[in-house]
Amino acid sequence: MSNIELVAPCNFAVEAILSREIKSLGYEISKVEDGRVSFVADEKGICRSNLWLRTAERILVKIGEFEALSFDELFEKTKRLEWYRWIPKDAEFPVAKASSIKSKLFSTSDIQAIVKKAVVESLKTKYKQQWFEETGERYPIHVFLNRDKAALYLDTSGLSLHKRGYRELSNAAPIKETLAAAMVLLTPWKADRALIDPFCGSGTIPIEAAMIGLNIAPGHERSFVSGNWKWIGGKLWNEAKEEAASMVRHDAVLNVQGYDIDESALKVARINAKMAGLEDKLHFQKRDVKELSSKDRYGFIVTNPPYGERISDMKSVERLYKDMGKVFSNLETWSFYIITSHEEFERFFGRRADKKRKLYNGMMKTDLYQFFGPKPNVNRHDPLI
Ligand SMILES: C[S@@+](CC[C@H](N)C(=O)[O-])C[C@H]1O[C@@H](n2cnc3c(N)ncnc32)[C@H](O)[C@@H]1O
Repeated sequence: MSNIELVAPCNFAVEAILSREIKSLGYEISKVEDGRVSFVADEKGICRSNLWLRTAERILVKIGEFEALSFDELFEKTKRLEWYRWIPKDAEFPVAKASSIKSKLFSTSDIQAIVKKAVVESLKTKYKQQWFEETGERYPIHVFLNRDKAALYLDTSGLSLHKRGYRELSNAAPIKETLAAAMVLLTPWKADRALIDPFCGSGTIPIEAAMIGLNIAPGHERSFVSGNWKWIGGKLWNEAKEEAASMVRHDAVLNVQGYDIDESALKVARINAKMAGLEDKLHFQKRDVKELSSKDRYGFIVTNPPYGERISDMKSVERLYKDMGKVFSNLETWSFYIITSHEEFERFFGRRADKKRKLYNGMMKTDLYQFFGPKPNVNRHDPLI
């Protein structure tokens, strides 16, 4: 199969970054919607996109899409789809996920039950058998209803792609790996430039930056539910993994630091970096942001400071943003990328951002405040350094 329709769900407001990632893997985008990007690929593309896409939450194969105003309609139209092309006789095929937005059919447990029944009926006809043991590989089905339009998918990822496999442990408020990667991908940072996260917590931003800088595929350490699917085949998975291994830039010298005031968070960061195989590439150190300095003339701060979501924390967070404004002003040739949900961040930081970009941290609306430093050795205000 060469024209498989794939859909990659992502965090809201990350669609453009994910589209860029998909295009640079060599695939054609067919549609961009809120929180999802559709593209066309072959079987190997399923392996490559699972391994490489840093900002996608999972990779789904689109099986069909139709209007469904009643359970009868959902059943009949689901049954009509060619499930046998994707799901083998011995497969386990749970309807693992269902959601419904602004649709007549809204009970997700009923939607799941009807879709399961319809897929069973469809496979019965094709395989000429009445009962499915479901003892083989797992083929999770996802169904989404949006304004009465049902879309049916097979999930090729299994565990969500933000689970890279390196974060066994986390501190109190870790940023999702996919969002941390998106923040780094929104900067023009390259491996040979300095990057500091002064509020690194469990180290997610430095670890994601290191993987980007060294061109390490984010999925290289984990497995995928489609890893043993027959119609993809072990050969393609092996080829994609070998390709990923061959593309690591082992020779790149990184200058990525993570600081935090909390020693226990740093301990977690070091363990996570080790799990990611990056312990020799990253440097974590206990430091209050007030003590921040750097010998590097140019560089990037990419960070996720505390937001002060509880009213009781608000005053101290606002003081912290003031302190940040003061110390960051000593790094006048650096660029800063700061994510927070605090709507008056700029007032406390003491400087207006050159650019503000909406990003969602889970369900929380946040902004990425971007302050661009000059291009190295060029006295110009240009983000494209
Ligand atoms: C929102 S968390 C960062 C989470 C991190 N991005 C992760 O993925 O784990 C904010 C971090 O700021 C640290 N912090 C708070 N005040 C600080 C200060 N004055 N200087 C340095 N770090 C501070 C906290 O210890 C906490 O780990």
